[in-house]
Amino acid sequence: MGFFELLGFIVFIYFIVNIVLWLCLDSDIELFIKEKFGQPIDSLRGKVVWITGASSGIGKSLAIVLARHGVKLCLSARREDELEITKQQCLAESSLKPSDILVLKMDMLQNDKHEDYFNRVVQHFGRIDVLVNNAGRSQRALWQNIDLQVDRALFELDVFSVVNLTRIYVKYVEKNSFEGHVVVTSSGAGLIGVPNSGSYVGAKHALHGYFDSLKLEMPKLNVTLFCPGPTTTDFLKTSFTHKLEGEYGGTAESSSKRMTSERCAFLMATSIANKLHTSFAGPFPIPFLLYVSLYCPNVRLVLLKLLGTGALTKIRDPEKSGK
Ligand SMILES: NC(=O)c1ccc[n+]([C@@H]2O[C@H](COP(=O)([O-])OP(=O)(O)OC[C@H]3O[C@@H](n4cnc5c(N)ncnc54)[C@H](OP(=O)(O)O)[C@@H]3O)[C@@H](O)[C@H]2O)c1
Repeated sequence: MGFFELLGFIVFIYFIVNIVLWLCLDSDIELFIKEKFGQPIDSLRGKVVWITGASSGIGKSLAIVLARHGVKLCLSARREDELEITKQQCLAESSLKPSDILVLKMDMLQNDKHEDYFNRVVQHFGRIDVLVNNAGRSQRALWQNIDLQVDRALFELDVFSVVNLTRIYVKYVEKNSFEGHVVVTSSGAGLIGVPNSGSYVGAKHALHGYFDSLKLEMPKLNVTLFCPGPTTTDFLKTSFTHKLEGEYGGTAESSSKRMTSERCAFLMATSIANKLHTSFAGPFPIPFLLYVSLYCPNVRLVLLKLLGTGALTKIRDPEKSGK
């Protein structure tokens, strides 16, 4: 075999292995490698991590995973009783002391109070090593029916409150001359368009623009954009619709098409421990779909033409594909 045949063969095998991994894994390949050979979650032991939206779902599961590894936590959200339940679960599964977990009742939409909340966390722990911007609401609505007020409200919560809190953190990092780490729970819908969630997709995409730019301005700052695919949480209950009043009210039942929030949180914690920039996770076909969409957008268009948009809706909402 000549040099060029050998090179061609290696490239061929490389692509075959990649495609097989896209089909088999429940995360991107970098995260899979870090899960097996990278920094363990335990490398975060003793750090102070602030998780917004820790009263349920992914934020709650992440808190429990991190607590098991001795991470000190600030848990914030609006439902204080649910935060207390998260705290008790964290304490039950770890050797943390009650003072290692701060419960902070906080509405992310009150941007003018962010600085006060921030100072309270710093006062309690003396520092904040990692800020996890996880609070957010999803959406189910047809693009053309969405009131502009909904676009604005969704951006207020999923984008502007995140940007505002992060600006306070970034100034704190600069003032105290340490690396710092900002984490954002984005979504697969932050990487590609999906049907039935126009404002949400726009908001999650906006986060990537904001945080990629931040990373360029502050190269030493660690920025992690974690992008889960469909995950079993209560998110459908409180999702926005096309009108400002009311919530979607659906249930995201456990299904082989959804990741458990525990697995999602484990992968997220691994991504944080390894300071990865962008990670994604989800059961088949999410990684395959994301890789094809990002690397071969034309193939994605052909696939969508063959399968129809309904196939994508079914992947996201197995139980309510038509609404
Ligand atoms: N589940 C999925 O399939 C999926 C997929 C991709 C991305 N995500 C993202 O994952 C993140 C967490 O969602 P989840 O699925 O875990 O849903 P969830 O269980 O509904 O969690 C949402 C969290 O955000 C908090 N929150 C909502 N509005 C808030 C506000 N105004 N102020 C403070 N906290 C607020 C909620 O707490 P309170 O109600 O107590 O305030 C709750 O803790 C979101 O950013 C979502 O976009 C989820």
